[in-house]
Amino acid sequence: MHASADLPTISQRELIGQPVEMLDTPCLVVDEEVLQANIQALQTFISGLGLKLRPHAKSHKCPDLAKHQLAAGAVGICCQKVSEAEAFAAQGIGDILIANEVVGSAKLQRLVRLHRRCIDLNGQLIVCVDSLEAAARMNQALEQAADDQGVAKAKSIAIAPLSIYLEINVGQNRCGIAPGRAAADLAKAIEEQMPRLCLIGLQAYHGAAQHMRTLEQRAAVVEEVCNKVRQTLQAFEAQGLKRPEVISGGGSGSVGLDARTGLFTELQAGSYVFMDVDYMRNQWDCTIDLNFSQSLFVLTTVMSQTSSDRAVVDAGLKALSVDSGLPELKDAPGLIYEKANDEHGLIQCRHSEHDPALEPESLLGKKLWLIPGHCDPTVNLYDELVVVRKGQVVNTWPVLARGRLF
Ligand SMILES: Cc1ncc(COP(=O)(O)O)c(C=O)c1O
Repeated sequence: MHASADLPTISQRELIGQPVEMLDTPCLVVDEEVLQANIQALQTFISGLGLKLRPHAKSHKCPDLAKHQLAAGAVGICCQKVSEAEAFAAQGIGDILIANEVVGSAKLQRLVRLHRRCIDLNGQLIVCVDSLEAAARMNQALEQAADDQGVAKAKSIAIAPLSIYLEINVGQNRCGIAPGRAAADLAKAIEEQMPRLCLIGLQAYHGAAQHMRTLEQRAAVVEEVCNKVRQTLQAFEAQGLKRPEVISGGGSGSVGLDARTGLFTELQAGSYVFMDVDYMRNQWDCTIDLNFSQSLFVLTTVMSQTSSDRAVVDAGLKALSVDSGLPELKDAPGLIYEKANDEHGLIQCRHSEHDPALEPESLLGKKLWLIPGHCDPTVNLYDELVVVRKGQVVNTWPVLARGRLF
């Protein structure tokens, strides 16, 4: 099998300069002006408090977009997987936190190579650890790499120590060592036994807090998170350990609160660049929360309409993630995305609420804008993000880290 030169590629790059209506569908579109406003809003807020923003790049998986966040003032990015981070390092981004645990010899070998690459890029790789066993295996992989290079151990560290954050379980009950004494004991053991690891921070991320609907609920969880961090810092002090330089965490739903606690030094929000239906269901309080707007859409076409109360679009499960709920239609009153099949989306048409411009018989071939239910897994379905400004295609950005799950 070989590529056929006479068949078009699936990139829509050749449409740069054309109106968005020319795009083939389903395709993933980002409104550049809204995106930039979201990037600036969070950066200005975080910088204004003297804190650091390290946005989570798993939301967009796109080095071109990350470069805009870095240009605005972000200190680096977060990734969730080693192979995801590799895609960003390959594009010259060298300051990366893998905000997650890394276990297994294949991954650890990649991690060591990535650590070296980040140093070459004048950056740093940081990774989360939550157990002594995992730390020991990581330390061992770094030792092994040094030995393989023929570097005498006594001369030590041809490879600089790898920076780590100790992840503490702040109530999400996912990864993370228990806060307080257990965390301090682990930190002490790492300091004493793992010369190739250097603990520089604590990760205190609470995912469930992000999607709690009211500010009061989110504030209560942030308070709980802070208590757990304080407890851990006290235990560090009691053990005679240095206070970690970095306290990292927070997401798009809680960042307004996290940043004002006086405890976090680094914020990890990710979805704020795009937003989605689920995030828009939060009740935002403009006195505390930031006013992020929807920038991400799936453009879809009505491919069939055989009855006046139903239309079918070409974006179904393979074009949209529905784990957090179905997409919503933008600027299409009376149309409701009702059900997703593999390649079909069923749209209910409520005539009484119809915009006259959207009469049922006029829907065939019409392009509709969908707001994804959940941005991160939706982006992971696409090879490229089409960038639009004022109704024109202005760029395409490859989603280079999509599918990078190792
Ligand atoms: C460790 C970590 N940090 C930050 C984030 C970013 O959260 P959000 O995309 O809700 O801003 C996530 C998202 O799941 C995460 O797992």
